[in-house]
Amino acid sequence: MDRIKTGISDLDKTIGGFPSGKTILVTGDPGTGKTIFGLQFANVCCSQGIRTAYISSEENASDLRLQGKSFGWDFEAFEKKNLLKFIELAGNRVAEIKTALSISMEAVKGNFSELTEHLPEGTKVLIIDSLGSHTANLKPFEFRDRFDLLVHSLAHMGITAMVVLDSITSKEFNDTALFSAYGAIHLLKRENPYTDRRERVMDIVKMRNTRTPIQLLTYDISPRGIELISPGGLPDNP
Ligand SMILES: Nc1ncnc2c1ncn2[C@@H]1O[C@H](COP(=O)(O)OP(=O)(O)OP(=O)(O)O)[C@@H](O)[C@H]1O
Ligand SMILES: [Mg+2]
Repeated sequence: MDRIKTGISDLDKTIGGFPSGKTILVTGDPGTGKTIFGLQFANVCCSQGIRTAYISSEENASDLRLQGKSFGWDFEAFEKKNLLKFIELAGNRVAEIKTALSISMEAVKGNFSELTEHLPEGTKVLIIDSLGSHTANLKPFEFRDRFDLLVHSLAHMGITAMVVLDSITSKEFNDTALFSAYGAIHLLKRENPYTDRRERVMDIVKMRNTRTPIQLLTYDISPRGIELISPGGLPDNP
């Protein structure tokens, strides 16, 4: 199976990269590093000449360029070479405004097809950050149908996608996205009972067709971006 680098070099050594042409879900609480992971993935793809699109519904493109710069990633250079396209697509805010204007609730329901409509020709990698901004007013079964359709259309287009979803939205829809995605990584902060210190860990919930570690992987956000500290970290069953 073809693999594509995640941008986290020790993770690539562990799982061999993301399966190419598949949709990977990244979930996590606020501040766990979902956006940084997305940008890091975009950076490594563009560095290899892979045409990448980054749909952002929470932060504008200039903030993302700045965030990238703080890790030494020159997104402007990639944009000039047409390797990277930031697409600002406000989700909830648009829905909220429409609701305030009393436009029918049906009309403001998130429709994920808008996410794949504006991609530049030849896009091979897509990051959606975050899908949670496009789920306003959806019922769980509507979310599931739309998510399945999104995964299906991305696969049809041969796009490798990272879909970011906050933990609250993921729970709201009964974690259904976990079942449809080809792979899923959950980012979290927790107390390490042995050191009494908080740490960041990632759980590779699933990655089809891939040998994945069962242990949580401890990571840090360093000046170079997300880095694994000690694969394995704390044993799950001490
Ligand atoms: N240049 C940097 N160097 C080190 N750590 C940083 C740097 N910039 C941000 N961080 C850390 O990363 C965290 C935010 O990461 P990020 O924005 O990717 O989280 P997120 O999961 O996308 O959050 P949200 O759910 O709010 O979108 C910050 O809270 C901070 O701790
Ligand atoms: Mg974010």
